[in-house]
Amino acid sequence: MSDERTPETPETEATEAAEENEPIKTRKNGLYPAVSDELADNMKSGWADTELHGLAPLPQAAHTADRRAALSARFPGERLVVPAGHLKTRANDTEYAFRAASEYAYLTGDQTQDGVLVLEPKADGNGHDATVYLLPRSDRENGEFWLDGQGELWVGRRHSLAEAEQVLGIPAQDVRGLAAALKEATGPVRAVRGYDAGIEAALTDKVTAERDEELRVYLSEARLVKDAFEIAELQKACDITARGFEDVVKVLDKAEATSERYIEGTFFLRARVEGNDIGYGSICAAGPHATTLHWVRNDGAVRAGELLLLDAGVETNDLYTADVTRTLPINGTFSPLQRKIYDAVYAAQEAGIAAVKPGADFRDFHDAAQRVLAEHLVAWGLLGDLTVEKVLELGLQRRWTLHGTGHMLGMDVHDCAAARTETYVNGTLEPGMCLTVEPGLYFQADDLTVPEEYRGIGVRIEDDILVTEDGNRNLSDKLPRSSGEVEAWIAGLKG
Ligand code: GLY
Ligand code: MN
Ligand code: MN
Repeated sequence: MSDERTPETPETEATEAAEENEPIKTRKNGLYPAVSDELADNMKSGWADTELHGLAPLPQAAHTADRRAALSARFPGERLVVPAGHLKTRANDTEYAFRAASEYAYLTGDQTQDGVLVLEPKADGNGHDATVYLLPRSDRENGEFWLDGQGELWVGRRHSLAEAEQVLGIPAQDVRGLAAALKEATGPVRAVRGYDAGIEAALTDKVTAERDEELRVYLSEARLVKDAFEIAELQKACDITARGFEDVVKVLDKAEATSERYIEGTFFLRARVEGNDIGYGSICAAGPHATTLHWVRNDGAVRAGELLLLDAGVETNDLYTADVTRTLPINGTFSPLQRKIYDAVYAAQEAGIAAVKPGADFRDFHDAAQRVLAEHLVAWGLLGDLTVEKVLELGLQRRWTLHGTGHMLGMDVHDCAAARTETYVNGTLEPGMCLTVEPGLYFQADDLTVPEEYRGIGVRIEDDILVTEDGNRNLSDKLPRSSGEVEAWIAGLKG
């Protein structure tokens, strides 16, 4: 934001004044003349009534109501506080793009910064009343709308509280009195922590870490099984992601002329045009960077003859993300050694995907994929004369397999992260769960235990797999996986 576009009053002062509903007409930064009484009066009036009526509810409103009902049943008689979070400073007066907390968006469908959902236990002990607390329209009387950097004139129109009620299907109230009200309120309360320091400060004497953690765990475990809306969103995320991967293949020559950043930017364009964002930092890892699991610097060279490991996912406008990896020969054809390693990872992924079905242990697909990778590593002579069983027992294959074979996927790329071990890692797969299957082999450039020609090769193949009633469905199958299919796909796109 340049000086010319600095609001005439610092935000903090304006926000505080808005809370007190006092006029804002002073300035502190010295760049602009003070606002005259005449100008302040002038700006108060002459604005049309733009209230919107008859707004349609969000498509997922019925689902969010079901989710709130389940939450209510789990914590009867307790006040539950779930914040969306605030803008985060990037530098000085610039902020990162706002992304609502997943717990809040899951329960409301709303993505507004500063929002807070409160489930208030009903007096008769029978369930809860939900209220979403939001900033109302900007105040024209006190000048907030044009003098505060977060006023609507600066950042765009917000829904009025009445409009928000129609869209979300939840009663809405002004959030600015909420912290004080929560501080005064009595009775048991739990809050989701980590998003709203003001709300947490107001509740500090009323909550315990242990009880709040139970709420966080519940909201993680509730998301293990996806409903129909969520499954459709994940499919959408995978479909857009597939188009983003196609975009990248079409510009590989431009990436060769520049750097991995061209790949990152190309995928990001698709994510922003068709979705909300990328669901996590894109890993655009060419050549030996493919052996760095989370290579997001993306500032390296892209060279013909090497592999590109692209791990990227589009987040939809309703905040569900894909998480897909393809490893591509930059010149369109795998070398014999690249193909040998790729085909081993593909075989491991096939075994892993086959192990995803209802009733299977969550760990099964990991074990299946690890076994196939160990078999190949042993067959290639990289583990001396150890048997596959011994290698697996000692975990020695992990020098080159490095990470778990997959994780739950949803609103967070590593979804359901607070779920208990017994319900997730030691749990059983059920229809509606969605997880990644993403084996890999990584030979570091400085790994002296493998033949020189292996060094600097990294391969991962990652797909998003939905558990169905009778097995599974690959949501990301619009992208090719086998080495032959990948080559044909690149040839088709590059023309
Ligand atoms: N993209 C991060 C992961 O695959 O888990
Ligand atoms: Mn990934
Ligand atoms: Mn993943």
